[in-house]
Parts: sequence; C-alpha cells; structure tokens
Amino acid sequence: MKTILVTGGSGVLGRALLPALEGRADVRVLSRHADSRPTFRQGDLQTGTGLADALRGVDTVIHAASQPSRPQADLEMTGVLLAAAREAGVRHVVYVSIVGCDRVQAFPYYRAKTHSEALVAAGGVPFTVVRATQFHEFVAFMLSRLTRVPLLPLPGLPLQPVDVH
Ligand SMILES: NC(=O)c1ccc[n+]([C@@H]2O[C@H](COP(=O)([O-])OP(=O)(O)OC[C@H]3O[C@@H](n4cnc5c(N)ncnc54)[C@H](OP(=O)(O)O)[C@@H]3O)[C@@H](O)[C@H]2O)c1
Repeated sequence: MKTILVTGGSGVLGRALLPALEGRADVRVLSRHADSRPTFRQGDLQTGTGLADALRGVDTVIHAASQPSRPQADLEMTGVLLAAAREAGVRHVVYVSIVGCDRVQAFPYYRAKTHSEALVAAGGVPFTVVRATQFHEFVAFMLSRLTRVPLLPLPGLPLQPVDVH
C-alpha cells in the first residue's frame, strides 16, 4: 500500500479527501497544530519544521495546504514542500490549483497559484496539477460576508462552484 501525505488535510478539501483515501493508502496528514490522532504529523510548510519526519517513506504528496490571504507565503510554502519532497525521494506530487488562475492575474492569490504551478512543474518530482473551480463552502462564505450590510449587493461574478467530494 502506498503512503500518501496530505497537506491541508484539516482544511475544507482535506477533510473531504481523507475518508475517500481510507483503505486505499496509508494516509498521513500534515498540520501546524498538535493532534493526537496517529495519522497526524505536526509541521509547518513556511518554516519547514517537521517536514522531513512527515515525508519519511512517503510515495505521494497531495498538496492542499494554502494561505489565500497571504499569497507570497502560499508560494513559499510550495517551494519549501518541493525541496523537502525531492530530498525525501517522494515519487509524485499532486498540486491543487484553481481553474483559470492564469487568466485572472488581477488577484494576487491567483498569481501565486499560477507561480506555484510553475514551481511544481519545475520541481524535479513527477507531478499532477488538479485545477478545481470554487468550492460551495467558499461561495457561501463570501455571500455570508455580504449579508453584514442592510442592502445585499450581488456582484456579477460568473461562478461554477463544485462540491469538494
Ligand atoms: N476554496 C476554494 O473554493 C478552492 C477552489 C479551487 C481550488 N482551491 C484550492 O484547494 C486547496 C485547498 O483549499 P481549502 O479551501 O480546502 O483550504 P483551507 O480550508 O483554507 O485549508 C487550508 C489548509 O492549509 C493548511 N496550512 C496553512 N498554512 C500552513 C502551513 N504554513 N503549514 C502547513 N499547513 C498549512 C491548514 O492546516 P492547519 O491549520 O491544520 O495547519 C489548512 O488545513 C488550496 O490549494 C486552494 O487554492 C480552493
């Protein structure tokens, strides 16, 4: 059975992904926070702390950790992960990206995702980039923020959200 490390396993996508992987791989989860569950490994993709331990014996990394509000940090996290994955002999990195990120360069986060895709492609580890559209949870979050004002402005943004499952 292959060993898969999921970064961002505590996030919206990661939480849906873990049950789907159960029984099909030996799954580990990377989180910055201490967690007593045996599958969890504490580590930080910005500093690299804990990464070598978390990656030992790992075949595949699914990189779903992200920091949308800090695009530069988001990009750096991918770089740190790739260097550690190369060092650990990881055989495949799956990078979760966003549909059309290269076409919406007005958003710093989308620019960071596009740069991250390029980093992954040049990272020296066989890779797959999976681009998803917005998750329903994200759209609900954005709409819930708009409800703070008495009049609800609905932006004319074309969206085609997906269920993370
Ligand atoms: N949300 C959307 O609508 C959407 C659409 C398309 C694609 N995507 C992509 O899908 C991926 C997952 O998105 P999501 O919405 O599921 O993310 P999320 O819920 O915001 O979760 C982010 C995760 O990143 C981890 N993380 C953040 N900084 C970290 C660090 N320094 N070291 C280690 N882990 C760190 C967090 O783990 P801890 O707090 O446990 O450390 C958390 O689990 C992202 O790459 C995103 O760009 C999202």
